[in-house]
Amino acid sequence: MTQPRRILITSALPYINGVKHLGNLAGSMLPADVYARVMRLKGHDVTYICATDEHGTPAELAAQAQQIPVQAYCDAQFEIQRAAGEGFHLSFDWFGRSSRPANHALTQHFAQALEKRGLIEARISKQVYSVDDGRFLPDRYVEGTCPNCGFEKARGDQCDNCGTLLDPVELINPYSAVSGSRNIEIRDTEHLYLLQAKMQDEIRAWVNRKGANWPQLAVSIANKWLDEGLIARSITRDLSWGVKVTSADGSPRPGFEDKVFYVWFDAPIGYISATQEWAEANGKDWEILWRTDKGADETEYVQFMGKDNVAFHTVSFPVTLLGSGEPWKTVDKLKAFNWVTWYGGKFSTSNKRGVFMDQALDLLPADYWRWYLTANAPEGSDAAFTWEGFQSAVNSDLANVLGNFVNRITKYCASKFDSKVPEAGETGEAEAWMANELATRLKTLDEHYEAMEFRKAAAETRAIWAAGNEYLTKAEPWVKYKSDVDGAAVGVRAGLNLAAVFAIIALPIIPEAATKVLDALGIPLENRRWPSWQDSGLLDAIPRGAPINPPEVLFQKIEDTQVAEWTEQFGGGKA
Ligand code: 2FM
Ligand code: ZN
Repeated sequence: MTQPRRILITSALPYINGVKHLGNLAGSMLPADVYARVMRLKGHDVTYICATDEHGTPAELAAQAQQIPVQAYCDAQFEIQRAAGEGFHLSFDWFGRSSRPANHALTQHFAQALEKRGLIEARISKQVYSVDDGRFLPDRYVEGTCPNCGFEKARGDQCDNCGTLLDPVELINPYSAVSGSRNIEIRDTEHLYLLQAKMQDEIRAWVNRKGANWPQLAVSIANKWLDEGLIARSITRDLSWGVKVTSADGSPRPGFEDKVFYVWFDAPIGYISATQEWAEANGKDWEILWRTDKGADETEYVQFMGKDNVAFHTVSFPVTLLGSGEPWKTVDKLKAFNWVTWYGGKFSTSNKRGVFMDQALDLLPADYWRWYLTANAPEGSDAAFTWEGFQSAVNSDLANVLGNFVNRITKYCASKFDSKVPEAGETGEAEAWMANELATRLKTLDEHYEAMEFRKAAAETRAIWAAGNEYLTKAEPWVKYKSDVDGAAVGVRAGLNLAAVFAIIALPIIPEAATKVLDALGIPLENRRWPSWQDSGLLDAIPRGAPINPPEVLFQKIEDTQVAEWTEQFGGGKA
């Protein structure tokens, strides 16, 4: 193998409130997991970090609605999200929480470092104040009429009707989202501002350098912000749930006792603090991943996210990291996704449209969803989930192409060759054809994964499985058996070895089924390594004579009646 690479992978931290839907999964955590698994199988030193993003108004409001303390609310939601991730076999090395002490400490550290470099300034601004609630109403705490489109239930930070980003004071006829009170005043309040304009040139130079490895979408979003000119951004809020604002000595900062840092300031810092937690818990070194003075220059840092998060990762977070003047690692490769839609529209819990992560696992095993969502990843454009598309991907790719291959060859080996990898026979034309297919296609597959092109990688994986079926048609062991048992033995041996290769390249996307196949073939853990396209021995790698054990049916086909039932239950095209 070539030199192992040290790779740090993060996927955008899912917001704490509510179970995530399939689109959220497909647009960051799932592809990050697939990528992490491929790189581990290739022998690289991978650390995959994620966490819940817990601060901000949505968590506070949701806790209030349930009439429980926000800490208790977040504890419960964290457990739900952690369990859903586990159910989907997301192979995080660490799944942390942005509300943990490490993130508080590091966020406060960054604020101090930025202030020392003259990048933070306290300013007085006007904010919406609710007299009846006795508090300021930041972001979603206030609702009112959108000044842009007239929508009457616009949120303080954004209008859901026209999408315009808003400042709460711009709302017409504002009212408190907590109490509904319209007894509202605009009052002065003090906040910390991050003077991003001072970092404009440094960020531009950094984007020009690092952006060479990013997709065009990400570079153009970053440049759009830079072209508009970076402006001072307030990084504190009048809230109690979040990271407290401190002075240099760690004591509460006078005048900021009832304020915390803005959630988008502390959330990305969570990538680092979650890595620290992982290191602490496992006796590992986090600095080699995050500090360029401690070896992180040799770390490849890859970020996965939805397109709405790109600006925060290509501009805002880099301002924090570079602005600190400290040697922090910044992103090398960045993969951004469009949306998975529900039949072209939005997922919505209240309107019963779409499947959420916990519901999905009640219907079918994780592999089925993982396969469909990877093969239809929203790269290049939005991708619509449809039950019909899902049914066809599962039935044809998984059940017919992969499932049948494994089933046919292992059953046949059991019935004619005593469940042992056959020993006899010489390879011929069919095997030469197959070896050539593998060499070409495995190379292409590597290229797709290296480029983080998940749809193409899934398509190539399927093409490799399909080539195996074509090989069996050419080799015809079942026909040969009647006149040439040794000839049949070659086909069965190659077929079993192919099943192993197919399962190994399937491991990143459908780990559960692929593991069943590898177990059935008796492939020891240490041999479950990514196949090299240059390896000419792939058709004869399992020791001859080794016992095999046909697996249970790998995939159940999805019936039309199930599609009808689920369409009724979760909505579909006609909803
Ligand atoms: O869009 C979201 O769901 C955010 N919670 C993503 C945060 S990514 C990172 F910066 F923490
Ligand atoms: Zn509007």
